[in-house]
Amino acid sequence: MQIDLSGRVVLVTGAGRGIGRTIAQTFHREGAHVVALDLDAGALAELREESLADLALTCDITDPAQVREAIARVDETFGRLDVLINNAGINAEGPLESFDPGLWDRVFAVNVRGVLNTCQAVIPLMKRQGAGRIINAASFAAVIPSVDAAAYGASKAAVVQMTRVLASELGPWGITVNAYAPGMIPTAMNGFSALDDAAASTKLDQLSIRRWGLPEDVANLCLFLASDLSDYITGALLHVSGGKFATQDPGAAARV
Ligand code: NAI
Repeated sequence: MQIDLSGRVVLVTGAGRGIGRTIAQTFHREGAHVVALDLDAGALAELREESLADLALTCDITDPAQVREAIARVDETFGRLDVLINNAGINAEGPLESFDPGLWDRVFAVNVRGVLNTCQAVIPLMKRQGAGRIINAASFAAVIPSVDAAAYGASKAAVVQMTRVLASELGPWGITVNAYAPGMIPTAMNGFSALDDAAASTKLDQLSIRRWGLPEDVANLCLFLASDLSDYITGALLHVSGGKFATQDPGAAARV
C-alpha cells in the first residue's frame, strides 16, 4: 500500500518558514491541496510564487475570528478539509522568577489558544465529513522541559493533553488527533545552526541517532499520520527526535 494523499485538503499553520514550509512542500509533492496559513504575508507570497500552496492565507491563529474566516474560505474553495496540521508555535526564554507575564500569555496565546482556535473552527467540517485528521506540533519540551523555557514546555504539555482529550471526543466521528515531539531541528526558532562545534557536540550527545533533525523528518511523520496507514493511531504523542534521551546518556554509545 502506498501513501496516497492526492486530492486531500491539508491545512498547515505556520507554513511560511521552517518546518511548516517543508510540511507544505511535502504534501504538495504528494498531490494534496495545500492551504498555508501564517502571520507573515511575505513568506506566504513566496509560497504562492513557488506554487507550493493552493490557498495561502495571512492569519493570526490567536484571533478566533481570523481563523474562522480562513476556514470558511477553505470550505468555500474545496468544500472539505481532510487534515489540519497545527505547526505554528513560538518560544520565549527566561527564568521564571522574572519572566514577563505578557510574554507568558503570548506563548500560550499562540501555542495553546491558537491550537484551540483552529480545532474549534475545523471540527464542524470534519464531523460533517465523518472523517478527519488533526496533527499537533508538541515538543520534546512537553516531556522534559529546558531551563529558562517553562512557558514553552508548559504550553507544549498543554498541547499533548488537548490532543488526548480531543482524540476521545472526536473518535466517534472518525477523526483522529495526534501530536508529535520533534527533537532538535535547526530553524529560525532556535540557535542550533549558530552553535560552535563543542556546544553542538554536547547537544548531539543527547541523541541516539547522532545528527540534527531535518524538517523532512517531521514532514514524513505528518504524511504517515495524515494517511490511511495511521487509521488506528489516535491520542498519541510520537517522537521524531533521533531517540533524544532514549537513555540517560545516549552519547555514551559513541564514546566506547
Ligand atoms: P519557526 O519559528 O521557524 O516557524 C514558525 C512559523 O509559525 C513562522 O512562519 C511564523 O510566522 C508562524 N507563526 C508564529 N506565530 C503565528 C501566529 N500567531 N499565527 C500564524 N502563524 C504564526 O518554527 P519551527 O522551528 O519551524 O517550529 C515549528 C513547530 O515545531 C513549532 O510549533 C515548534 O514549537 C515545534 N518544534 C520545533 C522544534 C525544532 O527543533 N525546530 C523542536 C520542537 C518543536
